[in-house]
Amino acid sequence: MSILIKNGRVITATDDYVADVFIEGEKVSAIGKNLPFKADQVIDATGHLVFPGGIDPHVHLDMPFMGTYSADTYETGTLAALHGGTTMVIDFILQTQGDTLYNALREWQDKSLGKAYGDFSYHMAVTDFNENTAKEVVQMIEKEGISSFKTFMAYKGALMIDDGQMVGLMKVVKENGGLVTVHATNGDMIDHLIAKHRSEGKLSPLYHYLSQPEVTEAEASGRFADMSDYTGCPGYIVHMTCEGALNAVRLATRRNQKVFVETCIQYLLLDASLYERDFEGAKWVMSPPLRQKKDQETLWAGLNQGLVQVVGTDHCPFTWEQKHMGKDDFSKIPNGHPAIEHRVELLYSEGVRKGKISHNKFVEAASTNAAKIFGMFPRKGTIAVGSDADIVIFDPNEEHTISVNTHHMNVDYSGYEGWEVTGKTKKVILRGQLAIDEGEVKIKKGYGEFIRRGKTGMVI
Ligand code: URP
Ligand code: ZN
Ligand code: ZN
Repeated sequence: MSILIKNGRVITATDDYVADVFIEGEKVSAIGKNLPFKADQVIDATGHLVFPGGIDPHVHLDMPFMGTYSADTYETGTLAALHGGTTMVIDFILQTQGDTLYNALREWQDKSLGKAYGDFSYHMAVTDFNENTAKEVVQMIEKEGISSFKTFMAYKGALMIDDGQMVGLMKVVKENGGLVTVHATNGDMIDHLIAKHRSEGKLSPLYHYLSQPEVTEAEASGRFADMSDYTGCPGYIVHMTCEGALNAVRLATRRNQKVFVETCIQYLLLDASLYERDFEGAKWVMSPPLRQKKDQETLWAGLNQGLVQVVGTDHCPFTWEQKHMGKDDFSKIPNGHPAIEHRVELLYSEGVRKGKISHNKFVEAASTNAAKIFGMFPRKGTIAVGSDADIVIFDPNEEHTISVNTHHMNVDYSGYEGWEVTGKTKKVILRGQLAIDEGEVKIKKGYGEFIRRGKTGMVI
């Protein structure tokens, strides 16, 4: 099978030129002007952008959480991602406290293998670090192609580890060429504030926001950066939301330390005023919560300053019925929101079209940097000879409106209902197969593969 994409504007993290791209089998095999090859399929991309498939390194599919499961499965979630130009996701396996990493891995393999449309990998969340876990961490890197380990500094009693466990994990991960990622918020402070608000009868979604002030994230981000410095282990802070937390990373750079930072599309675009809408605010109950406009400015600037490398989603959708589990108590609202489908188009529309980031920065943040940090570059994250042919053909001028009536995520509301977007995913190629063509699905469930990853933390 071969595909020739003709005359598109090819954009990578570093380049921007008009050319043809020739695909044979699963790989890009030639790039150039007026390529003379015959192909099984020819796509005219004149006037369109041609960029590497998006990589969303922060999604939660079919995840047990807060007494329920996130509503998208590997089937529905990776398909929705493809519709929006994301060809690969990295999901989180959760170790059950008291149980092994291998048991958790098997559980996630059952959920995912043979069921996904798009490609996927897993971060392994270590929620119980002990001698046995340490041995399994090595096996995950050496045998299973899982080289990033997630930690939680919050959600005490379910997912949180203490600083002693964090340092122990970092030492093993560093010795074996992996990376530790973190949900960096101060769990004890947050639990204290939740208890305080509940005891005062303050139970609406607004109090979810008020229970996680900026300082809880700034403090934990700085503490994590310090532990990463102390152990020498590469660190990656997920879903960063605010100025205080980014300043903690800025400070770390002054001692020549690199801490990778991911923000998520919602923190660039939405703000905490949404929590003033009574229970409707539950749609945006996520941790950390949405912040202020000044934090959005900091995050956009952080992208351009190279302090923020990645824009993910933290896609963790719950239906409106599931959100009602917390109708009378914000602390019972399942945390998370749907976004896997709209990240690429929103980042383009709000970032590139509005002059906040360049085309190259857009590709870097939506795809390339995740591939580099998480040990998949240059197989993934770029358009180059020999890379996987994961390619988005994108109309930069098409206008459309986000709505629950047209999205593909398995959730009955949209966090972006009515948002007008400029730029649309027209065709998506995944490992050499046309996967989405003008909204039509061309591949079958199970086409998506588990991607083994190598050593992590390529310096950017
Ligand atoms: O609210 C969120 N973020 N839900 C998913 C779990 C996590 O903390 O990433
Ligand atoms: Zn988190
Ligand atoms: Zn998450």
